Amino acid sequence: MTLCATEVCKTYPTRGEPLSILRGVSLTLQRGEALAVMGPSGSGKSTLLHILGTLDRPTSGTVTLEQEDPFRLPEPQLAEFRNRRIGFVFQDHHLLPQCTVLENVLIPTLVNRSGQIEALEAWARQLLERVGLKERMQHRPAELSGGERQRVAVARALIHQPLLLLADEPTGNLDRKSALAVAELLLELHRQQNTILVVVTHSAELARLFPQRMEMIDGRLQPVA
Ligand SMILES: Nc1ncnc2c1ncn2[C@@H]1O[C@H](COP(=O)(O)OP(=O)(O)OP(=O)(O)O)[C@@H](O)[C@H]1O
Ligand SMILES: [Mg+2]
Repeated sequence: MTLCATEVCKTYPTRGEPLSILRGVSLTLQRGEALAVMGPSGSGKSTLLHILGTLDRPTSGTVTLEQEDPFRLPEPQLAEFRNRRIGFVFQDHHLLPQCTVLENVLIPTLVNRSGQIEALEAWARQLLERVGLKERMQHRPAELSGGERQRVAVARALIHQPLLLLADEPTGNLDRKSALAVAELLLELHRQQNTILVVVTHSAELARLFPQRMEMIDGRLQPVA
């Protein structure tokens, strides 16, 4: 699996001059590689992550996964591909408050799970154990700490064993110690499952845990000095 972005540009229309956010981002990541993306607020980090995750389209330039352009797929197939192959961890975790921890982890499997319910549930339980939430599976998100909720989001992102794991400031709301723990967990699971991992973070300390680091400057990715 290779993730390849070539001269990706993203421009947002405004009433005046269009807003040029990404101005030619190029990036190649192979399976087993992990990248931390830094850069100032508003520089386009989330925009890039959404495009790499096929949630948003580039204005120009291409994104390919395994030499295929996912944006060529019709929308239902693209959604299926995204659900199966790409794991997202968002800053504000997006857990469903009325569902238990275990149910939240299983949400991505609700479409098309065709008779594998037991295997998926066993895997969800294993993932929750792995992120240290064995005793919390029947809790609701409101009954968890911020770090625990973030760990549920990590487990959920891994339910389909994605090839590509994207995390947008997954530790943004956490104290230093919990943030490092979540980042280390992401890296460890990434190594075990041989995914491509891209994490956006504002923390230089956290970014240093990653083998590769880039910074978004003036709409382009540059190696961190
Ligand atoms: N749908 C949109 N329409 C117009 N402008 C947008 C849209 N989405 C994002 N932007 C603008 O694009 C810029 C980059 O946004 P983005 O969310 O990618 O930044 P970021 O680097 O993730 O920032 P932060 O670190 O604060 O999360 C911002 O200036 C934002 O206002
Ligand atoms: Mg952002």
